Amino acid sequence: MSDAPVLPPAPPAPNPKPVIPPKPAAGNAVSQERRQFIFTWLGLAWTAFALATGTALSTVLRFMFPNVLFEPKTSFKAGRPDDYEIGKVDERWKEKYGVWIVRTLEGIYALSVVCTHLGCTPNWLEGEQKFKCPCHGSGFYKTGINFEGPAPRPLERLRISLADDGQVLVDKSKKFQQEKGEWNDPESFLTP
Ligand code: FES
Repeated sequence: MSDAPVLPPAPPAPNPKPVIPPKPAAGNAVSQERRQFIFTWLGLAWTAFALATGTALSTVLRFMFPNVLFEPKTSFKAGRPDDYEIGKVDERWKEKYGVWIVRTLEGIYALSVVCTHLGCTPNWLEGEQKFKCPCHGSGFYKTGINFEGPAPRPLERLRISLADDGQVLVDKSKKFQQEKGEWNDPESFLTP
């Protein structure tokens, strides 16, 4: 017989606890909302930044390429007085500058090709010795005086002078109206 002490039976092993996945903490939901909030504001901030940058860029581009308006010249040299035949309406500058030059025995004047009714361009009819507007039929004598149709006043004359080099110089920026007595102005008429 052995005298070894009899050990008490080992206690039963504790039942393994089931592993329960951690519940999402309430704080998680809050942080998710916060993240969404931050992303939204970040998106807005980037959009605003992009818009501001685009605006600034377009301003710089406009500065680099200014909106220059190329207007036709208001004055031009029209050759020598002798280039114009006495008694003739010269149409060589009609298309380019909108001017007729007329030479008479007394001198030379420049007429605007703009009809004083509603602004159409009349035609010079050599056979009838008159300017005739195709729009509403106004007629003007060679002098520019209106005599038929609805035009309320004569064609306008333009400043004319002799340049230093002896050429006829027409300045469209200065107009002379017959009904105001401006055709008496020495700048409205050139005496070569
Ligand atoms: Fe010349 Fe009317 S525009 S007659």
